[in-house]
Amino acid sequence: MCGIVGYIGKRDAVPILMEGLQRLEYRGYDSAGAAVVSGGKLAIRKKLGKLRELRNSLEETPLPGGLGIGHTRWATHGQPSEINSHPHADCSGDLCLVHNGIIENYQELKKQLQAEGHDFKSQTDTEIVAHLVEKYYKGDLFAAVQRALLDCEGAYALGVVHKDEPGVLVAARCGSPLIIGVGEGEQFIASDVPAILKQTREVIYLNDGEVAKLTSEGVIVTDLKGNVADKEQVHIDWDAEAAEKAGYPHFMLKEINEQPRVIRDTLRGRIAKSGDNVVLDDMNISDEELKGIEKIIIISCGTAWHAGIVGKYMLEEHTRIPVEVDIASEFRYRNPILVPGKHLVMSVTQSGETADTLASIREAQRQGVKVVSIVNVVGSTIARESDGVIYTQAGPEIGVASTKAYTSQVTAFYLFTIYMGRLNGTISSEKAAKLLAELQTVPGMIEEILKDQDVILECAEAYKEAVSALFLGRSYNFPSALEGALKLKEISYIHAEGYGAGEMKHGPIALVDDKLPVICVAVKSAVYDKMVSNIQEIRARAGKVIAVATRGDEDIHRHADHVISIPQISEMFSPLLVAVPLQLFSYHMAIARGCDVDQPRNLAKSVTVE
Ligand code: M6R
Repeated sequence: MCGIVGYIGKRDAVPILMEGLQRLEYRGYDSAGAAVVSGGKLAIRKKLGKLRELRNSLEETPLPGGLGIGHTRWATHGQPSEINSHPHADCSGDLCLVHNGIIENYQELKKQLQAEGHDFKSQTDTEIVAHLVEKYYKGDLFAAVQRALLDCEGAYALGVVHKDEPGVLVAARCGSPLIIGVGEGEQFIASDVPAILKQTREVIYLNDGEVAKLTSEGVIVTDLKGNVADKEQVHIDWDAEAAEKAGYPHFMLKEINEQPRVIRDTLRGRIAKSGDNVVLDDMNISDEELKGIEKIIIISCGTAWHAGIVGKYMLEEHTRIPVEVDIASEFRYRNPILVPGKHLVMSVTQSGETADTLASIREAQRQGVKVVSIVNVVGSTIARESDGVIYTQAGPEIGVASTKAYTSQVTAFYLFTIYMGRLNGTISSEKAAKLLAELQTVPGMIEEILKDQDVILECAEAYKEAVSALFLGRSYNFPSALEGALKLKEISYIHAEGYGAGEMKHGPIALVDDKLPVICVAVKSAVYDKMVSNIQEIRARAGKVIAVATRGDEDIHRHADHVISIPQISEMFSPLLVAVPLQLFSYHMAIARGCDVDQPRNLAKSVTVE
């Protein structure tokens, strides 16, 4: 996830670009860059690090001119570095562009363009678009971009400029957000409304597959074939703070709502064209080595540990490789048995900087064991030090309570499981195709869950004064119960415990009384009947039952005080759906109790000390 901006008009572009990029820094912040066209020249400036590095450089040596594009980067392909940061230019340096998204077929296109003589400087997928536009450029930038995009697969939001066309800014969108701001004798592009709110409140939303030509006089929007689209101008009346949160009152709620997109992005480019296998680009461990793995040890902390437990269930079921899941702070101080060549350590981390997780992978590597990490932040220490990486594509997570990072980590485990199962022959081609097809239905189902929060709001109102809560689940949804309890503790300060429901009779049942909300994950699964028995035991002791159940399950209403329904899905994938109402329950409880949702007391987003 990156942020892009662009300006065309009579004013100097740079101050407008910098103001916009500052508003978009929440979308990514490992490097930034800008380009300005003026006097028949194209000047590009890029800086590694926070936006202030670019600002300082532009203040020291300004780039004057009324046409410009800017970018703040959140790396997806290629480490954070000056070369990999945007804008990216073609061979001649006559044109350049900024990009947010992932060009899925970039390797194929790169080979082709290299064979045609194009010279690449970065490791990014973005640079291929600049060379493609160069290839098709015949004096009309708008037409060249339209043509180039016909060759591209994947997601993009683009801003493109050419030194010979100082009056034209070209923008395009497919799968990544992009808006056009309409001013008086000037136009803007941006990834998001906050970036241009100071300049204009009149906005055109580009749709997927649309390309726009902006001049100071106006905007023309077409499809990739050049057919003109009839676009509506929308007036925005959010204030700047609301706009940064895309109109949501909190980052946590925004991030919960981003999960359909995040899961789609995590899957993007990773499902083989045949539909029956997974492509993992940054593994850096050979298939031969992976075939020799006899045991997997997953290490992580907090929410990432819960994702690891879901990973264990699916890996053991589908690959028949034994899996151990350990809390990193325990792993690093016990004397783990690690066998080089036969054991694989997997770490899971949003930040890639968690001290205990980092120490654990270093210990594993010291003992000669390879490490594959599921990481969100590209270029983070754990990403750099691991032998292989599976990047989640969650984008920056600002809310301290992890939401979209969790579901993207679980999604990455599905990909890894299918990859390993195909390698060791435990997952057939037919089965992989079936699993991958079902996995791709998850984002749409989450969209459905997000639409109806009535029961969740009713529960938050009913239990906002609770001093304690219990979360129960079994099998794949045992970690869902742990995660539900952690979320509630973190942001509403209510004491909560997550348990495997079968453990209830071994202690926690003593807590049950008519004041205790017990959240039971009772979706249709192999353990459904067992869950219903546990629910009856709670009811018999006057406990208040909130059931998360499968839509259409009428019977569950007889046993529960409240029923939150989610769509029907295979048990294996149900943790992705179950996570969402549990996150929303914690969110609405915290709001009802007046808590600071995005920055709960005593917590830090990234725990870089022991
Ligand atoms: O950055 P990481 O994924 O390594 O962080 C691990 C935990 O600190 C993190 O998941 C924490 O538990 C969250 N605040 C939970 O919402």
